[in-house]
Amino acid sequence: MTLEQIIKTRRSVRSYTDESVSKEDVLKLLDMARWAPHALESWRFVVVREAEGKDLLAKAARQDFIATAPVIIVVGAYVDVFAEYHSVWHRWDAYKFRGLFYIQTTAAAIQNLMLSAVEMGLGTCWIGSFNEGDVAKAVGFPAGVRPVALVPVGHPDKTQKKAERVPLETIVSWEKYTPVPE
Ligand SMILES: Cc1cc2nc3c(=O)[nH]c(=O)nc-3n(C[C@H](O)[C@H](O)[C@H](O)COP(=O)(O)O)c2cc1C
Repeated sequence: MTLEQIIKTRRSVRSYTDESVSKEDVLKLLDMARWAPHALESWRFVVVREAEGKDLLAKAARQDFIATAPVIIVVGAYVDVFAEYHSVWHRWDAYKFRGLFYIQTTAAAIQNLMLSAVEMGLGTCWIGSFNEGDVAKAVGFPAGVRPVALVPVGHPDKTQKKAERVPLETIVSWEKYTPVPE
């Protein structure tokens, strides 16, 4: 598959077969994730495979389908790393470290992971809606690690529908921003 085919065939997969996902495949996904651009490699990953942990995460997200995936990868951002480093990296603004960098770093890793899954015949879904405290508790994140996303991983149980996107010209401006007409 070309990169364009991988990008355009990836769909959110919310229904999985009973087939398991091997530890090697999970490690491959996480290896690909960590080659994303990063600020201080602040991503942290917890792999949840046992039913008890998956159920806690599904409850934290109020999305039952998550627990039906053989694996859920919890992506966290080690927020404290920015506090530790910004004092020596003066030219980098502390707010950006804390407020934006860790979000962008983890998002880039998640996208790498999800695209790699397509190439491996696996299905994923980006889960961003959940109770942060409940997710942190379920996987034992300490105060300095913030849950950013859950990524259920499994073998897709059916072909995904073709996706739509709004026309490119409604989201692209040249030189200056043009509001989208109501
Ligand atoms: C930040 C973010 C949060 C998301 N949260 C959820 C979620 O909580 N539950 C869910 O089923 N899908 C979630 N999604 C997936 C989107 O619904 C999905 O990517 C979008 O509808 C486009 O469909 P596609 O992924 O099939 O192209 C989220 C995606 C992103 C990027």
